[in-house]
Amino acid sequence: MIDNILLIGFMGSGKSTVGKELSKALDCKFIDMDYEIEHKENRSICDIFNTDGEDHFRKLETHYLQSLLKTDNAIISTGGGVVLKEGNRKLLKAIGKVIFLHADVEHIVKNVKDDTTRPLLQSDDYMKTITDMLESREDKYLSSADIIIQTSGKSVACIVDEIMTLL
Ligand code: S3P
Repeated sequence: MIDNILLIGFMGSGKSTVGKELSKALDCKFIDMDYEIEHKENRSICDIFNTDGEDHFRKLETHYLQSLLKTDNAIISTGGGVVLKEGNRKLLKAIGKVIFLHADVEHIVKNVKDDTTRPLLQSDDYMKTITDMLESREDKYLSSADIIIQTSGKSVACIVDEIMTLL
């Protein structure tokens, strides 16, 4: 039995991929918050944003996060914007150990280029969008994190090994 581990970080930083592999290595369950919200709502994140707006999505996100207080023995991949609300940042700490997957802009752009599933990145100048969002969120990721892992240029296996040595 382990404490929950929450992976935070920007879109495209590898939270879901790393989370799945880490859950296998630690033999515990894997929870992807966005997937769970989509499943509960029976519609995609894009649909939620387009139909009801970002504020509504943020409420669903907080609501789902609160439900995780009852979970244990899980690796949880969060949505990139989970750190935006102060209340969420406190919840993260109450739920488990928080690991920030820190990736360079170049790494992120490579991973999210041509992605149509992320409503906040549907801009012509997504390089600028990403740079601006990263800058405005960086402090929030850092202040929420118990552990910070640099992911750019590293394989998933290497990131998982690094996390395991720090637990
Ligand atoms: C968001 C990140 C997305 C998803 C939503 C909003 C954000 O999750 O929750 O599109 O504000 O950064 P991923 O980080 O898994 O892409």
